[in-house]
This record gives sequence, structure tokens and C-alpha cells, in this order.
Amino acid sequence: MTKYKIRDISLSQKGMERIEWAGRNMPVLKMLRNRYEKSKPLSGKRIAACLHVTTETANLMLLLKSAGAEVALCASNPLSTQDDTAAALVHEYDIPVFAWHGATRDEYYDHILSALEIEPHITMDDGADLVSTIHKERRGLLENIIGGSEETTTGVIRLKSMAKDKALRYPVIAVNDSMTKHFFDNRYGTGQSTIDGILRATNFLIAGSVFTVAGYGWCGKGIAKRADGMGANVIVCEVDPVKALEARMDGFRVMPITDAAKESDIIVTATGDINVVSEDVVKSAKDGIIIANSGHFNVEINVEYLENHCNNKRLIRNQITEYTILGKKVFLLAEGRLVNLSAAEGHPAMVMDMSFANQFYAAKYLMEKGNTLNNDVYVLPEDIDMAVASDKLETLGIKIDRLTDEQKKYLDSWEIGT
Ligand code: ADE
Repeated sequence: MTKYKIRDISLSQKGMERIEWAGRNMPVLKMLRNRYEKSKPLSGKRIAACLHVTTETANLMLLLKSAGAEVALCASNPLSTQDDTAAALVHEYDIPVFAWHGATRDEYYDHILSALEIEPHITMDDGADLVSTIHKERRGLLENIIGGSEETTTGVIRLKSMAKDKALRYPVIAVNDSMTKHFFDNRYGTGQSTIDGILRATNFLIAGSVFTVAGYGWCGKGIAKRADGMGANVIVCEVDPVKALEARMDGFRVMPITDAAKESDIIVTATGDINVVSEDVVKSAKDGIIIANSGHFNVEINVEYLENHCNNKRLIRNQITEYTILGKKVFLLAEGRLVNLSAAEGHPAMVMDMSFANQFYAAKYLMEKGNTLNNDVYVLPEDIDMAVASDKLETLGIKIDRLTDEQKKYLDSWEIGT
């Protein structure tokens, strides 16, 4: 197997220090390491992971390895790879990595194929690129695969549509659907890291700005809450009437996106769907609008329209492309790729701690139960979710109440009256 494809191995020392820094804030992963490094429940299993190559992911790789797995890692986005992290994984921890920051489309897929040379028993995805590459181009690998896990909403949607079409050939655990993942990672992680990406790219003052969030799922909710907390005048755009109502009762203005664009200083997409910032939105946008995407794929903003119809385009600042179009300026962040990982470092370690604990449990669950599962998309059992939450609380030094026997009996009974 090819050993690695990374940008610069000399960055490994810096990468190792940053991995250690992230590890300080991933106490649940540390607990799992202590719990399983002797018994090595993943022993003899090969895992191909296609995740953002960050210091947080590095800590997951170290946990999987210490639990006995052989791992290979490639990137789930060409702009999110931290080259020093990749170098440290290869040089300091002997983990094969296939990723560099700014990979072209061809390089990106070449890296996926290289990671698949490990001939995995388990795939770990963030966006379902491993699953789709295996099903389209490496079907020979299917016979060895016990199952896979999926990190993100977009990937889960893709996988569910494969399962519905009976195209999915192995079971996949939707890690995203664990409560200890999406309640925290999607909401607080995306909320903070999206603002972080916008600020690192622009240094724009959020207070007093008109800040539009397209999509009021868990990610959109988190972004709106943080922008609100920083003093923005927040508008939410939704297609789902219930979510729109929720946004309104959470205190935000709600309107169609073409209306919002007329007064927005910033629009951020977090919908998981295509062409949300469409030609019409650009046409109605006010001069100087900043547009960013926080969804997994770079499809939410119609970048092609900007590219094909602008009179001029320049990189005005790192991560900001200025388009002169229809007599106004439109500023696109991070080429329309997910701004929190392209212009910042993704979610903080404190939330990735729980997301990646779920990834670890998904691998362990697949080893134990994979052969009994159908080729469908599954959620981890609730007791695992509760165990992750309890472990996290313990690491935070937080104690909670327990139901008394009397209370349990009351909840279990239909006979005890009001
Ligand atoms: N997804 C969002 N933030 C991330 C991070 N810090 N590491 C890996 N995947 C992520």
C-alpha cells in the first residue's frame, strides 16, 4: 500500500503540538483510550476514514489505533486539510494520510483511492465520499466490508437515498443522528466555527450588521444564535413552515431569501441543498454583500453564475474573492466551500470529543453487530448516546440527579393516578 501523500513532512513537530493541544480538550476520547487500549476491541480490523484532516480527527485516529485498528485517512474536503496535522500523523504516529490543503478535484479523488488501498473492513465518512467511491469504482472491496459510519447530515441524506433505491451494499451508522452529535456539534460547533471562519476571513463587525442565515436546521440555529449574541440583526430564510415559525418565535425576522438579500451585509447558507444563493439572490443583493457557505458541499452558492457573469474578479484578501457583477461588489468567502473549515479550524475540540466518541462506538458496534444488520442506515442505540453524555458530564465534573424508585415506578405505571 502507498504509505502517504501529504504536503510537507517537515511540519510534523508543529502538527504534533497542535494535536496535543486539541487532545487536552477531548477528555472523552482519552477515557475511551484508557478503557480500551488493553482489550483492543478493534484488533485486526482495517478502517479507511475520509474526514476533515484536523487536529481533532487526529485524536480520533490515535484512539482507533490504540484500540487495535489499522487506519488510513484521506480528506473529506480539499480546503479543510491542516498540512501540519497530516505530517504529524504520518511522521510521529505512523498513520498513513492521503491529503493536502488545496488538492485539485483529481488529487482529492486520487487520495480517496489511495486510502482505500488499505482494503477496509469499516469505512468512516464525512459526506459519504468513501461509500460512493466504493459503490461506483471499487466494488471488489464490498465483500470485505462489515459496515460504515457517517458523520454529517448531508452524508446521511445521501446514504438514505442509496438505501431507498436498494443501492447501498453495506450497513451504515448515521453518527450524525446520535443526540450527542447533532445537538452539540451541529448547533454549538457550527455556530461558533462559522462565525470564526467569517471573522478570520473578513474581520467584519458582526454587531449592528444584518446577518442572514439560510436554513434553520441544527446548524442554522447555532449560527443564528451566535450572530444574535454578537449583536447582529438576524434574518432566517426557510422552506419548512415549522422551522420558519420556530425561527420567528426564537426572535428572528423570517422572509424569502431574495428579500433578505436586499438588506443583508452577510448571508450564510446551511441548508444542505443546491443553488440557495441563486442568480436571483445575487441580482437582488445589496452592494458589498458577503456570502459564505457552511453546508458540507460547495453547491449552496451559485459560484458558476458569479464566475460566468462577473466583469471582474480578484482575490482581495486571503479567502475573499471580490466579484464585480451587475454594477456592484459581491464578496465570496472560501470559494463557497464550508467556511468554518476552510477559513477557520472547524469545530472546537470540546464538541468533536462527543462526535468522535460516537464514531469510535460506531466502529465497535459494527464489529460486534455488523453482520446482523441489513444494508440500511442505522442510529446507534440510545444507551450508547447516554453513555457518551454521561462520560462528557463526568469529565466536566457535573453531577446530575437520578430518578428515585418511586419516580421510576410512577413513570412505568399507567394505573397510578394524577
Ligand atoms: N467537522 C467540523 N469541525 C471539525 C473538526 N474540527 N475536525 C473534524 N471534522 C470536523
